[in-house]
Amino acid sequence: MGKATLEQVVAFGCDHAALQLKAELKAVVAELGYGIEDVGTHSEESCDYPDFAHAVASGVAGGRYRFGVLICGTGLGMAYAANRHKGVRAAVCTDAFMARMSRQHNDANVLCLGARVLGGGSAEDILRAFFAADFDGGRHERRVAKIDDPQAGEGA
Ligand code: RB5
Repeated sequence: MGKATLEQVVAFGCDHAALQLKAELKAVVAELGYGIEDVGTHSEESCDYPDFAHAVASGVAGGRYRFGVLICGTGLGMAYAANRHKGVRAAVCTDAFMARMSRQHNDANVLCLGARVLGGGSAEDILRAFFAADFDGGRHERRVAKIDDPQAGEGA
């Protein structure tokens, strides 16, 4: 595949708990043909996960990145912060089924993983399931719209 367009860029962020896993998963996503942007962290020094969650989520919300992958100890803190951004649907996934459903039914655009929860092999399975699936649309369009706007699709 040629150079990735902006719509094909996947942004990665992690904290000190997840440096190694981030490196492994970046390689997988690059192999799938996406461009990669890594917002950090880049060292094992203790840091604050929301800094990286906000950097990735603001880029996804603004259209700079097509998807985000955020990894911390549990994936939870990253998701709390990322989901504060309108239009971002950050899914904490602990298996491939959740990852697939997060794309098919929820049109998730950020995958959150826990480096202290998952082994590298299962994290890769989850990541591959996320990137292999597409949004189903249809009845799910209205439901997803209601995440940001409770009145979406009601009345005229
Ligand atoms: C860092 O110790 C830990 O709190 C963080 O990686 C994450 O699990 C937070 O949700």
